Amino acid sequence: MKKIRKAVIPVAGLGTRFLPATKAIPKEMLTIVDRPTIQYIVEEAVASGIEEVVLITSEGKSAIENHFDYDFQLDTVLKEKNKLTLQEELNNISNLIDIVSVRQKKPLGLGHAIWMARNVIGDEPFLVLLGDDLVMSEVPCCKQMIDLFGVVQESIVAVQRVPMDQTSQYGIVEGGDTGIERTYKVERMVEKPAPGTTNSNMAIIGRYLLMPEIFDFLGKTKPGHGGEIQLTDALLALAKKRGIYAYEFAGKRYDAGDKLGYLKAVVDFAIRHPTLGKAFKEHLRSICAESSCR
Ligand code: G1P
Repeated sequence: MKKIRKAVIPVAGLGTRFLPATKAIPKEMLTIVDRPTIQYIVEEAVASGIEEVVLITSEGKSAIENHFDYDFQLDTVLKEKNKLTLQEELNNISNLIDIVSVRQKKPLGLGHAIWMARNVIGDEPFLVLLGDDLVMSEVPCCKQMIDLFGVVQESIVAVQRVPMDQTSQYGIVEGGDTGIERTYKVERMVEKPAPGTTNSNMAIIGRYLLMPEIFDFLGKTKPGHGGEIQLTDALLALAKKRGIYAYEFAGKRYDAGDKLGYLKAVVDFAIRHPTLGKAFKEHLRSICAESSCR
């Protein structure tokens, strides 16, 4: 079995759902408690055994590359001021993983963004993690998918059940049973279906494990929903040729690209934070008491 070594993280999007906060900073740099969202995503990849991350970037996203780079000046100042714990923490971030950046020159869609990674990925299966989707789980979501790949040896999309009235916000999978726990064989998938056009509520969340053949299909995929080259359309073509599995991962997913989803993530990650969690929970309790929301 081929080891999954590389992960693609597309970060070229404009973040319009989060304006004005994202006017001058990338949405991936918005903070969840004490780390930018992109750090959680990269940490999930690292915790799942990934050795190299391919960022698909665009103009104005250099703050993301800088975040994972070594900062000589900061390192020197922290050392001089004897702030050694902080110095170590920052060095750990720059030592997390090898990062390669590829520019997506035009905003032609998620499918096109992934296609930009073809030369860096080459002929091996790889992961895709979307920066808006944060997953809190005991076993990292990508690790769960890699474990399943050991069994099915084909592409896998992570899915979760969503309310039927929200299916038009996602890529939706229709699938049949496989006899493997939480796992379905993809029969049909459609990007953001119009209400009432599917009976399935299995929504793709931003984690994919893909066979390299996806690049052949991405190269041929015509613009679809929203006039963009959709990864979902290329996946359906791949599913028809060699099969794809949908996996209902164990864990909780947050849409950190949406204001409410982001706030939920901040609160949930804050109450679990090793040093801030206790005081933050007390604060929430006191708010509840004041507004008698219990
Ligand atoms: C993308 C995918 C969609 C998926 C979603 C998950 O859409 O195209 O299939 O359900 O991510 O977050 P986006 O939210 O980028 O429009």
